[in-house]
Amino acid sequence: MKIAVYPGSFDPVTLGHLDVIARGSKVFDKVIVGVLVNVDKKGLFNIEERVELIKRVTKNLPNVEVVSFEGLLVDLMREYSAHVILKGLRAFSDFEYEFQMALMNNKLDPEVETLFMMTSADYSYLSSSAVKQVAKFGGILKGLVPDEIIPDITRKINEK
Ligand code: PNS
Repeated sequence: MKIAVYPGSFDPVTLGHLDVIARGSKVFDKVIVGVLVNVDKKGLFNIEERVELIKRVTKNLPNVEVVSFEGLLVDLMREYSAHVILKGLRAFSDFEYEFQMALMNNKLDPEVETLFMMTSADYSYLSSSAVKQVAKFGGILKGLVPDEIIPDITRKINEK
């Protein structure tokens, strides 16, 4: 069984993320979305909320599982017997950071390969940070994140 892990912060999940998850789920037998618990960074959503939002928007994809993880990605890979890290590449500017992480993960575990999927052109400008900025200043979130999570983002921003 070919299992891929798609890691990230997903604060919050965007349509760009969802595009990679959905396309990845056609390529791999199983895609595990690994949501990083970052103790150093306080996000908009807590880890349980992020996991719940991704579960909600991937409920129509039966071979997608959503989990949270702490520590090293390669340890999560071992836990699930996964050998492929799935990443989305939006633009050339992503390359250097992603290249470094891919090499580091392969150094930490030579069994691990990182495969990159080009983000669809429709979403190449999207990021969770940009979504948070738009939300903060009352911009329109439709077309940036899945419709069903827009109320959650608006509510969270208003609470803060
Ligand atoms: O969505 P992000 O914040 O760009 O995702 C970054 C992520 C979660 C993929 C990366 O920070 C990560 O894999 N963290 C786990 C720690 C780790 O394994 N580090 C070694 C590789 S550099």
